[in-house]
Amino acid sequence: MAAEKKERQPGDNIPRHIAIILDGNGRWAKRRGLPRTAGHAVGAETFRKIATYCKNIGVEYLTVYAFSTENWKRPEGEVKTIMRLLNKYLQEAIDTMERDKIRMKIFGDLAALTEEQRELVRRTDEISQRYEGFQANICLNYGGRDEIVHAARRYAADLAAGKAEGELTEEQFGAYLYSAGIPDPDLLIRPGGEQRISNFLLWQCAYAEFYFTDVLWPDFSPQELDKAIAEFQRRDRRYGKVK
Ligand code: FPP
Repeated sequence: MAAEKKERQPGDNIPRHIAIILDGNGRWAKRRGLPRTAGHAVGAETFRKIATYCKNIGVEYLTVYAFSTENWKRPEGEVKTIMRLLNKYLQEAIDTMERDKIRMKIFGDLAALTEEQRELVRRTDEISQRYEGFQANICLNYGGRDEIVHAARRYAADLAAGKAEGELTEEQFGAYLYSAGIPDPDLLIRPGGEQRISNFLLWQCAYAEFYFTDVLWPDFSPQELDKAIAEFQRRDRRYGKVK
């Protein structure tokens, strides 16, 4: 049974940053004869459970892929349900962020969101600035290539305005990404049985350890997370070097 509350200890090798592709909601629902949207509702609850568990075991950052730049092509009713769940979640998070001292950030192109959503995002940003500690990042209208292109455009604009230097380093470029100031993911988890990255955190996952499982996201539990972390702890991370 997974422990309720563990303090992060030096040398315990808990990943600082875990990234998760939320996959399998639709199939989970279909197997139960339910509409796909029912799977998203349970998936949103699973996210809440896993975020709390991450916070309790000493993970510092959890980044989830909730809606990609390509997901707009899904049936209108499904897109609406996902957006409604995200709005509800953001609203509830705002109500509890102060109490639980958690930080939350949205990664993605916010231009396509509604004014209501942008206002919720502004509120989460403003509350987050007051705290240090666990941070959840929700990728919304997010695409890895889109993020890199946006960053390149912003850098070019700064360069033209004399606000950036011509000699661009990887570190400087990273400051133009949505993840500015956040360490790269150590562990990328994809439930749902597929083994691909699907345009998620392309820059940031350069040295992430990948963990794939057939468990569908709504069934993902703290015990499943423990299994992924145990596998991560067995990996030998060399970053291109020889030991
Ligand atoms: C992938 O499963 C899931 C999504 C595209 C949506 C994820 C969104 C939520 C869980 C809603 C709210 C999120 C948060 C973070 C509060 P799929 O539909 O591709 O599943 P399938 O592969 O089985 O069809």
